[in-house]
Amino acid sequence: MKKREQWTSKIGFILAAAGSAIGLGAIWKLPYVAGTNGGGAFFLIFLLFTLLIAMPLLLAEFILGRSTQKEAVSAYRQVSPGTKWHWIGRLGVITSFLLLSFYSVVGGWILIYLFRSITGGLASLEADQYGPLFNNVIANPVEALIAHFIFMILTIWVVQGGIQKGIERASKYMMPALFILFLIIVIRSLSLDGAWEGVTFFLQPDLSEITSETILFAMGQSFFSLSLGVSIMVTYSSYLPKEESLPRSVGSVVGLSLFISLLAGLAIFPAVFAFGFEPSEGPGLIFAVLPAVFSQMAFGSVFFTLFIALLLFATLTSAFSLLEIIVASITKNDQEKRKKAAWSAGLLIFVMGIPSALSFGVMNDFLIFGLPFFDAVDFLVSNILLPIGALLISIFVPLKIPKDVLWKEMSQGTNIAKKWFAIWLFLIRYLAPVAIAIVFLNVIGVI
Ligand code: PHE
Repeated sequence: MKKREQWTSKIGFILAAAGSAIGLGAIWKLPYVAGTNGGGAFFLIFLLFTLLIAMPLLLAEFILGRSTQKEAVSAYRQVSPGTKWHWIGRLGVITSFLLLSFYSVVGGWILIYLFRSITGGLASLEADQYGPLFNNVIANPVEALIAHFIFMILTIWVVQGGIQKGIERASKYMMPALFILFLIIVIRSLSLDGAWEGVTFFLQPDLSEITSETILFAMGQSFFSLSLGVSIMVTYSSYLPKEESLPRSVGSVVGLSLFISLLAGLAIFPAVFAFGFEPSEGPGLIFAVLPAVFSQMAFGSVFFTLFIALLLFATLTSAFSLLEIIVASITKNDQEKRKKAAWSAGLLIFVMGIPSALSFGVMNDFLIFGLPFFDAVDFLVSNILLPIGALLISIFVPLKIPKDVLWKEMSQGTNIAKKWFAIWLFLIRYLAPVAIAIVFLNVIGVI
């Protein structure tokens, strides 16, 4: 049998895991979901969920992947053969499928904006014209579908080439560039007149704003933005050499992701208030606000093109991880099947995404539980399926993997104190499942 590919460097793994984590979640979703769900109160609860539940879960997924050296579905099979637990992996594959179907639609919007900014179609508008412009753009069915299609083709094309070659190489340069550009936007945004109101909105929690919905969305956001609950991180860490420290990797991925979420908020909200937008603008928020910020900057259109290109890259690295887990579960590392699996799964995802792509135009009135198709799939994935996946993983890992194996994986390559192991075990075994269950029960009104 062919030896499994491994990450050639620790930094390659961190960048790929961070590449999966950092994408639309932190940059597109966080600002608009925070904007519709209570601003600072949302961000505070999101932070608590990230640190106390999502972060320990990320370590759990890493441990499962590296200790078994298997992709998602097989990892569960190996730990618990002959049982139904591997359905956690299957659920992850199904969730990834649905997630990518609308993710790619937003990826398409980014492509459209990239195209328009290169061809000059976004320059020289008044700040308040960018919102209506975005609504026009996404309402056009042909443009939205073509863009969604091209985004999927790009994703398929990279994933069919294999994990290392495809992903590792480029993230080394693109992610740092994205950070730097983000810092520039934040500085510009913070120096606008009236910026402070946005900072307070985003960072000062008004506890009276907290509802069970706020908590549900904040929980979903914490899993979404770390790519948790779908066993993607299990798959990625299965390629990681034994010597690397898992807790340190967790720290880097969570740190980077939180930092970019903070930057996204600080880039968007000051400008929202300075320009008189509504924070509850919805999925179009960053597309309406950011071009307006750039239009107030020297060389704004050049910077905007660069920014949108980097955002496209960050979105693609997350999309690769989603398609990768689907492909890995079909091929089980049999590289011969890779091409076919990537194309067939990818094209099916494109088809699944069509109603989402049309949601803001011709299928405007097609509602599921009162939500447009796009929002309904997003809600199902982010607020139901990801938390269920996370809940099951938090039950599976401490229950089925022997304690000495857990400790060995956690302590490999570091001299971490044993008390951290006890704390982690408590968070994953008790706090995570109980908290997720309470949020669900609370939303459906049982408690
Ligand atoms: N974490 C990714 C983002 O923030 C989205 C994602 C979720 C990717 C779940 C994979 C799995 O954009």
